[in-house]
Amino acid sequence: ESNQFCDAGIGYGESTCTVASTSPSKILIKGGTVVNAHYQEVADVYIEDGVIVAVQKNIVVGDGVKIIDATGKYVMPGGIDPHTHLAMEFMGTETIDDFFSGQAAALAGGTTMHIDFVIPVKGSLSAGFEAYVKKAERAAMDYGFHMAITKWDETVSREMEIMVKEKGINSFKFFLAYKGSLMISDELLLEGFKKCKSLGALPMVHAENGDAVFEGQKRMIELGVTGPEGHALSRPPALEGEATSRAIRLAGFVNTPLYVVHVMSIDAMEEIAKARKSGQKVIGEPVVSGLVLNDTVLWDPDFQTAAKFVMSPPIRAPGHGKALQAALSTGVLQLVGTDHCTFNSTQKALGIDDFRKIPNGVNGLEERMHLVWDTMVVSGQISVTDFVRVTSTDCARIFNIYPRKGAILVGSDADIIILNPNSSFHISSNSHHSRSDTNVYEGRKGKGKVEVTIAGGEIVWENDELKAVPGSGKYIKMPPFNYLYDGIEKADADYLSSLQAPVIRSVRTA
Ligand code: URP
Ligand code: ZN
Ligand code: ZN
Ligand code: ZN
Repeated sequence: ESNQFCDAGIGYGESTCTVASTSPSKILIKGGTVVNAHYQEVADVYIEDGVIVAVQKNIVVGDGVKIIDATGKYVMPGGIDPHTHLAMEFMGTETIDDFFSGQAAALAGGTTMHIDFVIPVKGSLSAGFEAYVKKAERAAMDYGFHMAITKWDETVSREMEIMVKEKGINSFKFFLAYKGSLMISDELLLEGFKKCKSLGALPMVHAENGDAVFEGQKRMIELGVTGPEGHALSRPPALEGEATSRAIRLAGFVNTPLYVVHVMSIDAMEEIAKARKSGQKVIGEPVVSGLVLNDTVLWDPDFQTAAKFVMSPPIRAPGHGKALQAALSTGVLQLVGTDHCTFNSTQKALGIDDFRKIPNGVNGLEERMHLVWDTMVVSGQISVTDFVRVTSTDCARIFNIYPRKGAILVGSDADIIILNPNSSFHISSNSHHSRSDTNVYEGRKGKGKVEVTIAGGEIVWENDELKAVPGSGKYIKMPPFNYLYDGIEKADADYLSSLQAPVIRSVRTA
């Protein structure tokens, strides 16, 4: 038990931990089907010192190379989770998974990179950034940061510039919900959009109408509905649809691309579909919980059972998940996140008398790859290449780190998984790697299992054994001006010239 993850006192259930120091840095993956978002083929993959050196048939190597037989299996880019909250202070407590346990869970589930949300400290971006650098000090896998914007003044505006130009952050999240804590006004949203646009950064929104949610919560409490079902009833899909529509229209008004996080309802999805159809650059991110769960669990008479499903926006009535799956399969929605934000039963019990005090969030970092495979690929809704696109490649493209990440190409980072389509997965809090005592996917089984995870060129998951090495993960700087910015300047110029004639007329008549 010398693995430092174990030293940190994390229970690992069935799996064991060993030290990774003997891991080879030269690995040959033989005979698998190599899958990229654009193409799949049977080929060998040769890795040296953390980088993919060759992808071709029949690679021959000398001694000192670890050989993995992947015949009959898929060799794919490691998952990239665009949306996690590790070690986040939220709703009077802190998520139970920090960068150790959260990343352990990720690696065991085939995810080799995640992008976490830096929360500013008293509105200070630089203080928030420093705090998160500390939280991630012993990272065992690569990670990047988004940053939340919770207030507005000259300092925030200036710090956004520093974050983009010096610190490697290219996306900022604006919360339209959580009144009294993270929520911001439309005025701030507009300032934020303008600033993001000038920096080439991607604005992200948590789209729920926070004022209306507040009203809905009062209504439930007045009716005597204090249990977890009150959470869903107080913030119905219409409030998500309204905020999604508002954010999209304001992004269109400023002419900036927009990323909508955790799309949970048909209402929000249809706003995104409509905007995309009209040519607006809007990205929609469904999360695993929204795709595969439904809200009936919130009515469970046992508080603990129901409370573990409380997240925002809420998990919706049956039907929404299926519609989100269809939207993902047809390209209306682009990539799948988790919003991994885990609280244990003791923390969830903070809201035993009042659903408004239940810390919001569910797990998913370890389960995402398996559940997307099972729900989307095994069911025939998407192809294996599309699986790679929605779990890895599009995230890398959107956050501007492709093809270093999100691809199995010569020169890409050696973040690779081997998935056996004939093996099966089984989810349980008894064997998962999260520190939580519960799992919202408890008991789920399905076809397809991540048998090997290679992160940064080292085998970190094999034979159900985790060999994660704290300190081996790197911070990945994400540059601004991703592909969504192509053509933005031209559109602005066209808009201005379209105004010229009427402006001149109004000058003449003045
Ligand atoms: O319930 C949730 N989603 N918790 C995490 C914070 C957020 O809104 O993403
Ligand atoms: Zn151990
Ligand atoms: Zn959110
Ligand atoms: Zn979130």
